[in-house]
Amino acid sequence: MRPGKSGRAIPVVNYQKEYMSVRAIAQLDGVTKNYLLEGETVSVLRGVNFSVYQNEFIAIMGSSGSGKSTLLHILGCLDTMSEGTYELNGRNVSGLADEKLAALRLDYIGFVFQDFNLLPHATVFENVALPFLYSHTDPDQSRIKVMEALDAVGIAHRIKHRPSALSGGERQRVAIARAVVCKPKLILADEPTGNLDSATSSEILALFGRLHKNGATIVLVTHDHEVAKTATRTMFMKDGQLAGTP
Ligand SMILES: Nc1ncnc2c1ncn2[C@@H]1O[C@H](COP(=O)(O)OP(=O)(O)O)[C@@H](O)[C@H]1O
Ligand SMILES: [Mg+2]
Repeated sequence: MRPGKSGRAIPVVNYQKEYMSVRAIAQLDGVTKNYLLEGETVSVLRGVNFSVYQNEFIAIMGSSGSGKSTLLHILGCLDTMSEGTYELNGRNVSGLADEKLAALRLDYIGFVFQDFNLLPHATVFENVALPFLYSHTDPDQSRIKVMEALDAVGIAHRIKHRPSALSGGERQRVAIARAVVCKPKLILADEPTGNLDSATSSEILALFGRLHKNGATIVLVTHDHEVAKTATRTMFMKDGQLAGTP
């Protein structure tokens, strides 16, 4: 026991035990990423240790070029690390072949990009239904899930439009719907408001806040200090290392 702020004793040991028993959804240990540029090794990540627990909303901040996207791409199985280990949902991801990584990504990860990454010639509905192309979900079930996801992000009235007919904020809503349609364990968002004006950014950040309240686990890279108010934890990337509340 030790005294808390109010002077009341708080049971340190019990709290730690409870915390330790919760398994991380994603856990990086000693992760490095090096690039070989014109014969010289550039170290982008220098030993990152990072655990993401269920229902966390983690904001990652840090200057441009500090390695935030590299880290998020490794978490999203879109890129591989040079050294270290990555456990996703208790499974060691390091060294898995590309097709295994693609399957894991489909099951566990929803990724939101700064530039939306929508298919320009597909409708809103088709863009959000895209993940089901690679799974064996019954078409009626897929349709229901797509409509639920579009509803959740407030864009269900636009299903027949193509991305070019939508505003930036609406495009990002579609991209978020696509990221959440398979109910992934982990939502990763790389500067999702980076291309939006400030009013639209606030709406999109509020949307991530709502997804989090409804049970989503989110890691979001941002320059927006407002996010820290919504996030449960804020981490800072500096010199290829991640610092903040462990
Ligand atoms: N494919 C690559 N080859 C060489 N260097 C790269 C490559 N991708 C990223 N980098 C370098 O890694 C560093 C971190 O990039 P990035 O993760 O995109 O940073 P951030 O998202 O924080 O702006 C930058 O210096 C960038 O130039
Ligand atoms: Mg980046």
